[in-house]
Amino acid sequence: MRLGLTISVGIAAIVAGCESRAGQQPTIDASPSNITAADYIGPEACGDCHPDQLALWSRSLHRKMNQRATDDAVIGDFADRAVGEARFSRDAAGAYVMTLGTTPYRVTRTIGSRGLQEYVGVAADDPTQEEVRLPFGWWPRKHAWVSQPNFDPWLDEATFDPYARPTDPWATRCPWCHSTYPFVQRIARGQIRAVGHGLEQFFTSTKRAVGSERLAVEDQVTTGISCESCHLGGRAHAAGAPIHLVPMGDVVGKPGAPVATTFARERRDPDVVNGTCAQCHSGPSPRLPDGSALRNSSEALDLAGSPCRGIRCVDCHDPHRAEARGDDAHAIAACTKCHPTLARDHGQHPAAVTCLDCHMPRYVLGIDTFVRSHRISTPMQVIADAPNACSLCHLDRTPAWTLAALHQPTSADDSTTMGQRWLASPSPAIRLIAIAAYGRSTIPGARALIAPFLHDPAAYVRAFTGFALDDLARKP
Ligand code: HEC
Ligand code: HEC
Ligand code: HEC
Ligand code: HEC
Ligand code: HEC
Ligand code: HEC
Ligand code: HEC
Ligand code: HEC
Repeated sequence: MRLGLTISVGIAAIVAGCESRAGQQPTIDASPSNITAADYIGPEACGDCHPDQLALWSRSLHRKMNQRATDDAVIGDFADRAVGEARFSRDAAGAYVMTLGTTPYRVTRTIGSRGLQEYVGVAADDPTQEEVRLPFGWWPRKHAWVSQPNFDPWLDEATFDPYARPTDPWATRCPWCHSTYPFVQRIARGQIRAVGHGLEQFFTSTKRAVGSERLAVEDQVTTGISCESCHLGGRAHAAGAPIHLVPMGDVVGKPGAPVATTFARERRDPDVVNGTCAQCHSGPSPRLPDGSALRNSSEALDLAGSPCRGIRCVDCHDPHRAEARGDDAHAIAACTKCHPTLARDHGQHPAAVTCLDCHMPRYVLGIDTFVRSHRISTPMQVIADAPNACSLCHLDRTPAWTLAALHQPTSADDSTTMGQRWLASPSPAIRLIAIAAYGRSTIPGARALIAPFLHDPAAYVRAFTGFALDDLARKP
């Protein structure tokens, strides 16, 4: 699948610096290459001249996404804990060890730091084996070790054996969105497999004809997402050349007439900025009937499906902070900046119900909580089995009530509330959206309605039901 954007004249001109898939006349910018391994200098070097951005980024989640398994990085409890046939301990040399059945794995890397930490390791009985993703993660919100099906809805508990020898090589999947490496590798990978929804989709490499599914880890610029994941290789810039957000140089395409593009222009272009973030924020996800992703990491694809022309990720997020929680005020300011005439009459709603509640509903499964959809929408479509923004709060109302409140025609005469309909859904995702919404609500009897889902057939539904019950327990 490709991003649903129409490539604007702007990006077409910028991208013409390369031999594009559309087969445009290849031309190059006068700027030197910024995509080969030799073009990358690492964040500390940028920081010599840009200390403010370095300081912000150093505290960001992007920096910590992938790390070596040092004491600073590891947040899981390895003090000789056991869960089923798994054990979490340290060896005599102090290394972190995850033992699955009888096989110990030396932990080499961490993935994530905030909502969940996963681990990469090497079998101690066969150190020649490559680094694999390990099947247990540390879930801070539960303060516990859990196996993958508890947090990963792609997995079926019935067929996934967490004690079997892990075979998923880390380098074929995870670092592509969690670390920084030369952009040529991303282009090359796109040649053997339809991956990438970011800028890479517009390029083909002439120098690296054969792509690889595996990240060449030894070429990694940084472990974690640093400046050049977004700004691309900055060696020439550090020596005085202009910096760019788009690929430059003769590695892609053949030399030709220079293309005029500047950073100032690129940062204003939504296709370029969102295409930068879409390198990674474009995870696969099942979708709701309105098109929204059901799972997070798909923010760029959702935003591209929104009606808001010209909107950029950086209208609501500072890319150097990469911190989303608490950004509501910033986002609301962005809505009202572009929709200034919309002195929104909240109707019967208290001011605490915001633009985001109705237009970016909280029905996307995040790492340890439900998060807002990035598919900005109007909640006019009230289909019984499909979540809609209004009913996320008005769970105790029927579809007919909701349609009437939206001034929509209704022939529904069902007396079952929307919340109860969703709880009865055959889709675990829909059940869980309702469970989480009850967890946030003050609806009397919510606890009794959702408690039975602690026995739901799907492991992740049971786990998140626990979180929803915690939410209710915290209410006065
Ligand atoms: C030797 C000093 C130096 C280093 C090292 C350096 N920069 Fe710069 N950078 C500058 C100066 C000076 C400017 C402002 C003048 C200009 O636009 O080129 C600038 C401007 C920028 C801009 C804004 C460009 C614009 O047109 O507004 C970005 C983005 C940037 N640098 C990113 C980086 C990144 C990323 C790195 C590391 C890969 C880096 N810089 C390394 C000196 C440096
Ligand atoms: C298509 C890009 C992509 C790939 C491939 C990918 N991830 Fe992620 N991952 C993301 C994004 C984006 C986020 C941030 C989620 C969000 O906040 O929406 C994330 C978040 C995470 C987190 C949560 C981090 C935290 O601090 O809470 C973990 C854990 C994680 N990924 C594990 C993995 C593992 C393991 C793999 C390889 C099997 C992997 N990811 C592959 C894009 C990706
Ligand atoms: C997640 C992507 C991303 C990362 C990581 C990132 N930047 Fe940026 N940076 C951007 C984008 C996008 C802009 C343009 C922002 C805008 O227009 O609002 C920008 C703008 C800038 C600017 C112009 C001044 C400003 O703050 O707007 C400088 C300088 C800069 N970045 C340097 C850096 C340095 C140095 C690092 C690493 C320490 C870094 N950036 C990391 C995406 C990133
Ligand atoms: C190289 C891949 C990559 C690129 C490029 C990238 N991101 Fe991220 N981003 C991630 C991953 C992975 C995480 C998860 C970090 C975590 O939760 O520990 C993340 C986290 C974030 C978060 C914080 C999420 C949270 O849970 O609080 C925001 C906001 C964000 N990114 C915005 C952006 C924006 C805006 C851009 C483009 C300017 C961008 N990212 C570019 C991979 C990337
Ligand atoms: C960069 C500017 C920009 C930002 C920021 C922005 N929008 Fe929009 N939005 C637009 C444009 C342009 C349209 C298309 C208007 C049209 O077609 O008449 C639009 C369309 C919409 C529509 C659909 C209108 C319809 O008739 O279907 C809704 C709803 C909407 N925006 C809500 C929001 C909300 C809520 C926010 C904040 C979360 C937001 N927008 C942020 C520019 C923006
Ligand atoms: C209580 C829910 C709710 C809240 C809060 C809300 N909206 Fe809406 N909005 C709707 C509904 C429903 C519609 C479609 C029906 C209509 O046009 O009245 C709509 C329509 C829109 C439209 C497209 C039609 C138009 O009037 O231009 C835009 C743009 C929009 N909203 C933006 C916003 C912004 C910006 C905010 C915050 C300042 C906001 N909305 C707050 C429910 C809400
Ligand atoms: C109209 C404002 C707006 C725009 C534009 C926007 N975001 Fe967000 N984003 C938000 C808000 C608000 C949140 C907090 C959501 C929540 O509290 O659940 C958020 C949360 C996130 C998260 C954290 C999700 C999680 O699972 O915790 C990531 C990652 C993210 N945004 C990335 C992006 C990227 C990448 C883009 C561009 C493709 C983008 N955002 C564009 C408003 C926006
Ligand atoms: C974030 C939660 C939230 C969302 C989203 C929301 N509402 Fe409300 N709504 C409330 C609250 C709180 C009140 C005022 C207290 C009350 O009476 O329940 C209210 C009151 C109302 C009322 C009048 C009081 C009543 O019960 O008759 C109507 C009608 C209504 N909302 C319709 C809607 C519609 C239609 C939407 C979707 C466009 C919507 N609401 C979205 C929370 C929400």
